[in-house]
Order: sequence, then C-alpha cells, then structure tokens
Amino acid sequence: MKTLAVISRKGGAGKTTLSVNLAITAHLAGLRTMLADIDPQRSASDALRARVGEGPTLAEINAGKLFSTQVQAQNTDFDALVIDTPASPESDVLQAINCADLCVLVCRPTFLDIASVVRSAEAVRRLGKKGLIVLSQAPPRRNGVEPPAVLKAAEALRFTGMPLAAVGLRARAAFQQSIAHGRSVCEWDPGSPAAEEISRLWALLAPILLGQGDIRVRAG
Ligand SMILES: Nc1ncnc2c1ncn2[C@@H]1O[C@H](COP(=O)(O)OP(=O)(O)OP(=O)(O)O)[C@@H](O)[C@H]1O
Ligand SMILES: [Mg+2]
Repeated sequence: MKTLAVISRKGGAGKTTLSVNLAITAHLAGLRTMLADIDPQRSASDALRARVGEGPTLAEINAGKLFSTQVQAQNTDFDALVIDTPASPESDVLQAINCADLCVLVCRPTFLDIASVVRSAEAVRRLGKKGLIVLSQAPPRRNGVEPPAVLKAAEALRFTGMPLAAVGLRARAAFQQSIAHGRSVCEWDPGSPAAEEISRLWALLAPILLGQGDIRVRAG
C-alpha cells in the first residue's frame, strides 16, 4: 500500500479538492482506496458523504489515529491511502508527512502560498520524505499564454529544491460544483479541462502509488 499526504499550511489552497479528486480517481481506477480525513473541519468527509456505499472508503479520524489506521488499511489489503490534512496544527501535518510515501504540496501561485510551501518542503525533506508540488487554483492560460503569476510561481518554487508537477489545477468552477455532489471532476464533467487536469495528474501519480515509477517534473 502507498500513502499520499496532501498538505499545505496555508488554508484554502485546495488540499481537500485535490484529495477527494485523487481518492475517487484511484478508486475508480480499481485501487482499493481509503481517504483519511484528519482535518476536524471534515470537508473531505462532507464531500464523500454523498457517495455512501460507492467508495472510496472514508476514515474520519484525528491525527493521533493515523498510524494505526494506516496499519489497519495495510493489513486489510488497501492499495492506496490518501490523507487530507488540515492547515494546522503543525504536529498533525508532521504526523501525516511521517506516514507518507509521497507528500503532495498544494500551492496557489501567490507569494504567501509559496512562502508557506518553502517551509513545508523543508519539513518534508527533514523527515526524509519525497515531495511533489502541485499548483492549484492557477489562472487559466489566455490564448495559449501562461499568466505571469504562474510563470513567477514556477520560478520561485525552484528554490524549494522540490519538483513541481508538470500538471497543475487551474481555477475552474467544475472543481467547486463537482465536490458539492460528491463527484470527482472526471465523473461530473468528463472531457472538461478540469477533468483533463485530474486525469493528467493521476497519470503522473499512479505509477508512484503502484510502486512502478518515480516523479516526473516540469522540464526547465
Ligand atoms: N482548482 C480549483 N478551482 C476553483 N476553486 C477551487 C479549486 N480548488 C479549490 N477550490 C475552492 O477553494 C476553496 C478551498 O478549497 P479546499 O477546501 O479544497 O482547500 P483546503 O486547502 O482543503 O482548505 P482548508 O485549509 O480549509 O482545509 C473551496 O471553496 C474550493 O471549492
Ligand atoms: Mg481542507
């Protein structure tokens, strides 16, 4: 079983949106998947409640129960554990990082998000874990041109020394609408730009979750 911790110390970056979409996608791809919601806010649980009996399996727990939940999932033949983390306290986030095979650091292309990711990347490295930064809520390209904020963010994020995923999530209404119905964007609006982003991100992460590959990063 592989464990993916979705983290950002900045509130509202898009952790829950990404966790829910990845957990549903993993489940629909045939992986026995558990989503551990360790955020007392319970946003991931709110999203998944609409799909009772459909999967992925939901574990509403506090961070203190994470390790035993992970062992239990491993012992009951789960393939993937996705952890949706809170922005704080730090101790809970560190607990999730400690359990992870891969940490996905969610980052909007803003100064304050980037500053926060720099610190998270240090924590991930200190704990000897792998990390991958995923841009979230980025403004879409205009006429094929990448907005300056995204280019600047990509440049600044190089200083974290952590890879930036070749695919990020843009700010799209489909991410908000789908989650309100307990659906991934791929279920909600197949073929949409949002669905395309999650599918491409999944293609990048699946080999890691299946233990078949390493992280591909944005070139240059
Ligand atoms: N790619 C996106 N496009 C548009 N809206 C988004 C996107 N990602 C997240 N949002 C919206 O931004 C808000 C915060 O998202 P989300 O709850 O996923 O963030 P979070 O990091 O889990 O927040 P918290 O720190 O409170 O747990 C929500 O209203 C969500 O619908
Ligand atoms: Mg959240």
